[in-house]
Amino acid sequence: MSKLLRVGVLASGGGTNLQAIIDRCQDGSLSAELVVVLTNKPGVGALDRASEAGIPTLCIDHRGFSSREAFDQAVVTALQDAGVELVVLAGFMRIITQVFLDAFPQRIINIHPALLPAFPGLHVQQQAIDYGARFSGCTVHFVDGGVDTGAIIIQAVVPVLPDDTADTLATRILEQEHRVYPQAIQLIADGRISIAGRQVIITPEIPTKPVALVNPAISDRSSRDQ
Ligand code: GAR
Repeated sequence: MSKLLRVGVLASGGGTNLQAIIDRCQDGSLSAELVVVLTNKPGVGALDRASEAGIPTLCIDHRGFSSREAFDQAVVTALQDAGVELVVLAGFMRIITQVFLDAFPQRIINIHPALLPAFPGLHVQQQAIDYGARFSGCTVHFVDGGVDTGAIIIQAVVPVLPDDTADTLATRILEQEHRVYPQAIQLIADGRISIAGRQVIITPEIPTKPVALVNPAISDRSSRDQ
Protein backbone atom coordinates (compact mmCIF):
# COMPACT_ATOMS: atom_id res chain seq x y z
CA MET A 1 0.00 0.00 0.00
CA SER A 2 1.29 3.48 -0.84
CA LYS A 3 2.04 5.94 1.94
CA LEU A 4 -1.02 7.63 3.47
CA LEU A 5 -1.25 11.43 3.45
CA ARG A 6 -1.19 12.74 7.04
CA VAL A 7 -4.25 14.97 7.35
CA GLY A 8 -5.32 17.29 10.17
CA VAL A 9 -8.98 18.36 10.12
CA LEU A 10 -10.11 21.62 11.73
CA ALA A 11 -13.81 21.98 12.52
CA SER A 12 -16.09 24.19 14.59
CA GLY A 13 -19.40 22.34 14.41
CA GLY A 14 -21.26 19.12 13.77
CA GLY A 15 -18.60 17.60 11.56
CA THR A 16 -20.58 15.91 8.79
CA ASN A 17 -17.78 16.67 6.33
CA LEU A 18 -15.32 15.23 8.82
CA GLN A 19 -17.53 12.12 8.98
CA ALA A 20 -17.53 11.77 5.19
CA ILE A 21 -13.72 11.91 5.22
CA ILE A 22 -13.51 9.41 8.11
CA ASP A 23 -15.83 7.05 6.23
CA ARG A 24 -13.72 7.21 3.05
CA CYS A 25 -10.53 6.60 5.04
CA GLN A 26 -12.13 3.63 6.77
CA ASP A 27 -13.45 2.03 3.58
CA GLY A 28 -10.02 2.43 1.98
CA SER A 29 -11.15 4.70 -0.86
CA LEU A 30 -9.15 7.67 0.49
CA SER A 31 -5.38 7.26 0.87
CA ALA A 32 -5.22 9.50 3.92
CA GLU A 33 -4.77 9.10 7.64
CA LEU A 34 -6.52 11.55 9.97
CA VAL A 35 -3.78 12.20 12.54
CA VAL A 36 -5.61 14.90 14.51
CA VAL A 37 -9.01 16.61 14.64
CA LEU A 38 -8.78 20.05 16.15
CA THR A 39 -11.64 22.35 17.13
CA ASN A 40 -11.79 25.88 18.48
CA LYS A 41 -14.98 25.11 20.43
CA PRO A 42 -15.49 22.64 23.26
CA GLY A 43 -18.25 20.06 23.03
CA VAL A 44 -18.88 20.18 19.28
CA GLY A 45 -20.07 17.14 17.32
CA ALA A 46 -16.83 16.92 15.34
CA LEU A 47 -14.98 15.94 18.54
CA ASP A 48 -17.43 13.08 19.21
CA ARG A 49 -17.16 11.83 15.64
CA ALA A 50 -13.34 11.83 15.83
CA SER A 51 -13.24 10.09 19.21
CA GLU A 52 -15.70 7.49 17.95
CA ALA A 53 -13.29 6.78 15.08
CA GLY A 54 -10.28 6.62 17.40
CA ILE A 55 -8.69 9.81 16.02
CA PRO A 56 -6.71 12.01 18.44
CA THR A 57 -8.61 15.22 19.24
CA LEU A 58 -7.62 18.62 20.49
CA CYS A 59 -9.71 21.61 21.47
CA ILE A 60 -7.92 24.95 21.42
CA ASP A 61 -10.47 27.53 22.50
CA HIS A 62 -9.84 30.75 20.58
CA ARG A 63 -11.31 32.76 23.47
CA GLY A 64 -8.19 32.03 25.51
CA PHE A 65 -5.95 34.02 23.13
CA SER A 66 -5.35 37.75 22.91
CA SER A 67 -4.90 37.81 19.11
CA ARG A 68 -5.75 35.78 16.01
CA GLU A 69 -2.02 35.28 15.43
CA ALA A 70 -1.45 33.84 18.93
CA PHE A 71 -4.34 31.40 18.42
CA ASP A 72 -3.05 30.42 14.98
CA GLN A 73 0.45 29.84 16.37
CA ALA A 74 -0.95 27.42 18.95
CA VAL A 75 -2.89 25.60 16.20
CA VAL A 76 0.18 25.47 13.94
CA THR A 77 2.32 24.01 16.73
CA ALA A 78 -0.30 21.33 17.44
CA LEU A 79 -0.56 20.41 13.75
CA GLN A 80 3.22 20.29 13.35
CA ASP A 81 3.55 18.14 16.48
CA ALA A 82 1.08 15.70 14.90
CA GLY A 83 3.14 15.60 11.68
CA VAL A 84 0.30 16.99 9.57
CA GLU A 85 1.03 17.28 5.83
CA LEU A 86 -2.35 18.65 4.70
CA VAL A 87 -4.70 20.88 6.71
CA VAL A 88 -8.38 20.37 5.90
CA LEU A 89 -10.82 23.04 7.10
CA ALA A 90 -14.23 21.40 7.45
CA GLY A 91 -16.68 23.93 8.81
CA PHE A 92 -13.90 25.77 10.64
CA MET A 93 -15.35 29.20 11.33
CA ARG A 94 -12.16 31.17 11.88
CA ILE A 95 -10.23 33.43 9.54
CA ILE A 96 -6.70 32.16 9.00
CA THR A 97 -3.79 34.58 9.50
CA GLN A 98 -0.44 34.78 7.73
CA VAL A 99 1.17 32.88 10.63
CA PHE A 100 -0.88 29.83 9.64
CA LEU A 101 -0.46 30.31 5.87
CA ASP A 102 3.34 30.59 6.19
CA ALA A 103 3.53 27.35 8.19
CA PHE A 104 1.58 25.33 5.58
CA PRO A 105 2.12 26.97 2.18
CA GLN A 106 -0.40 25.62 -0.36
CA ARG A 107 -1.22 22.92 2.14
CA ILE A 108 -4.49 24.27 3.59
CA ILE A 109 -7.80 23.58 1.88
CA ASN A 110 -11.34 24.69 2.72
CA ILE A 111 -14.87 23.78 1.72
CA HIS A 112 -17.39 26.55 1.21
CA PRO A 113 -21.15 26.05 0.72
CA ALA A 114 -21.55 28.26 -2.36
CA LEU A 115 -20.29 28.46 -5.91
CA LEU A 116 -17.35 30.81 -5.44
CA PRO A 117 -16.66 33.53 -6.31
CA ALA A 118 -20.39 34.07 -5.67
CA PHE A 119 -21.35 34.40 -2.02
CA PRO A 120 -18.16 34.27 0.04
CA GLY A 121 -18.45 34.72 3.81
CA LEU A 122 -21.28 33.63 6.09
CA HIS A 123 -24.98 32.68 5.79
CA VAL A 124 -24.39 31.99 2.13
CA GLN A 125 -27.34 29.66 1.53
CA GLN A 126 -29.71 32.46 2.61
CA GLN A 127 -27.71 34.91 0.49
CA ALA A 128 -28.14 32.71 -2.60
CA ILE A 129 -31.90 32.47 -1.99
CA ASP A 130 -32.29 36.20 -1.31
CA TYR A 131 -30.33 37.02 -4.45
CA GLY A 132 -32.62 34.82 -6.55
CA ALA A 133 -29.77 32.62 -7.77
CA ARG A 134 -31.02 29.60 -9.73
CA PHE A 135 -28.01 27.49 -8.84
CA SER A 136 -25.72 27.21 -5.87
CA GLY A 137 -23.35 24.50 -4.74
CA CYS A 138 -20.05 24.02 -3.00
CA THR A 139 -16.41 24.77 -3.64
CA VAL A 140 -13.20 23.19 -2.37
CA HIS A 141 -10.35 25.66 -2.65
CA PHE A 142 -6.85 26.34 -1.40
CA VAL A 143 -6.77 28.88 1.39
CA ASP A 144 -4.96 32.13 0.75
CA GLY A 145 -4.93 35.47 2.56
CA GLY A 146 -8.48 36.43 1.50
CA VAL A 147 -11.92 35.27 2.59
CA ASP A 148 -12.83 32.29 0.36
CA THR A 149 -10.62 33.58 -2.47
CA GLY A 150 -8.06 30.81 -3.05
CA ALA A 151 -7.57 28.73 -6.19
CA ILE A 152 -10.49 26.36 -6.84
CA ILE A 153 -9.95 22.60 -6.86
CA ILE A 154 -13.47 21.21 -7.38
CA GLN A 155 -17.06 22.46 -7.39
CA ALA A 156 -20.48 20.82 -7.39
CA VAL A 157 -23.67 22.54 -8.52
CA VAL A 158 -27.19 22.12 -7.13
CA PRO A 159 -30.40 23.90 -8.17
CA VAL A 160 -32.06 26.41 -5.89
CA LEU A 161 -35.75 25.42 -5.77
CA PRO A 162 -38.70 27.80 -5.38
CA ASP A 163 -39.67 26.61 -1.90
CA ASP A 164 -36.11 26.31 -0.57
CA THR A 165 -35.22 27.59 2.88
CA ALA A 166 -31.62 28.12 3.96
CA ASP A 167 -31.86 24.73 5.69
CA THR A 168 -33.20 22.73 2.75
CA LEU A 169 -30.64 24.30 0.43
CA ALA A 170 -27.84 23.68 2.96
CA THR A 171 -28.85 20.00 3.15
CA ARG A 172 -28.81 19.65 -0.66
CA ILE A 173 -25.38 21.33 -0.80
CA LEU A 174 -23.98 19.24 2.09
CA GLU A 175 -24.76 16.02 0.21
CA GLN A 176 -22.43 17.24 -2.52
CA GLU A 177 -19.83 18.50 -0.04
CA HIS A 178 -19.53 14.96 1.27
CA ARG A 179 -18.75 13.73 -2.27
CA VAL A 180 -16.33 16.40 -3.44
CA TYR A 181 -14.19 16.92 -0.32
CA PRO A 182 -12.83 13.35 -0.19
CA GLN A 183 -12.19 13.56 -3.95
CA ALA A 184 -10.15 16.77 -3.54
CA ILE A 185 -8.09 15.21 -0.75
CA GLN A 186 -7.48 12.09 -2.83
CA LEU A 187 -6.20 14.19 -5.75
CA ILE A 188 -3.73 15.87 -3.39
CA ALA A 189 -2.76 12.53 -1.81
CA ASP A 190 -2.03 11.20 -5.30
CA GLY A 191 0.18 14.22 -6.08
CA ARG A 192 -2.03 15.10 -9.04
CA ILE A 193 -2.55 18.77 -8.19
CA SER A 194 -0.43 21.78 -9.03
CA ILE A 195 -1.29 25.48 -8.88
CA ALA A 196 -0.50 27.96 -11.66
CA GLY A 197 -1.79 31.37 -10.66
CA ARG A 198 -5.53 30.93 -10.12
CA GLN A 199 -5.62 27.65 -12.05
CA VAL A 200 -5.51 24.31 -10.31
CA ILE A 201 -4.08 21.78 -12.74
CA ILE A 202 -4.98 18.12 -12.35
CA THR A 203 -2.63 15.61 -13.98
CA PRO A 204 -3.63 13.42 -15.62
CA GLU A 205 -6.74 15.39 -16.48
CA ILE A 206 -10.15 14.05 -15.44
CA PRO A 207 -12.48 13.97 -18.44
CA THR A 208 -15.56 16.12 -17.81
CA LYS A 209 -18.72 15.92 -19.91
CA PRO A 210 -19.58 19.31 -21.46
CA VAL A 211 -23.19 19.18 -20.27
CA ALA A 212 -25.20 22.29 -19.38
CA LEU A 213 -27.61 22.58 -16.45
CA VAL A 214 -30.65 24.81 -16.84
CA ASN A 215 -32.99 25.93 -14.05
CA PRO A 216 -35.91 26.26 -14.61
CA ALA A 217 -35.76 23.49 -17.19
CA ILE A 218 -36.45 24.46 -20.80
CA SER A 219 -40.10 23.55 -21.28
CA ASP A 220 -40.84 20.73 -23.62
CA ARG A 221 -42.43 22.35 -26.68
CA SER A 222 -44.78 19.46 -27.40
CA SER A 223 -46.31 19.59 -23.91
CA ARG A 224 -46.50 23.43 -24.01
CA ASP A 225 -48.51 23.32 -27.25
CA GLN A 226 -51.06 20.84 -25.96
C1 GAR B 1 -20.46 23.11 5.74
O1 GAR B 1 -21.60 23.44 4.95
C2 GAR B 1 -19.26 23.88 5.25
O2 GAR B 1 -19.24 24.07 3.86
C3 GAR B 1 -19.47 25.19 5.96
O3 GAR B 1 -19.90 24.84 7.25
C4 GAR B 1 -20.63 23.60 7.18
C5 GAR B 1 -20.02 22.66 8.17
O4 GAR B 1 -20.78 21.50 8.26
N1 GAR B 1 -18.27 25.97 6.01
C6 GAR B 1 -18.27 27.29 5.94
O5 GAR B 1 -19.28 27.97 5.86
C7 GAR B 1 -16.88 27.92 5.99
N2 GAR B 1 -16.97 29.31 5.77
P1 GAR B 1 -20.21 20.21 8.95
O6 GAR B 1 -19.68 20.63 10.32
O7 GAR B 1 -21.42 19.32 9.09
O8 GAR B 1 -19.14 19.62 8.09
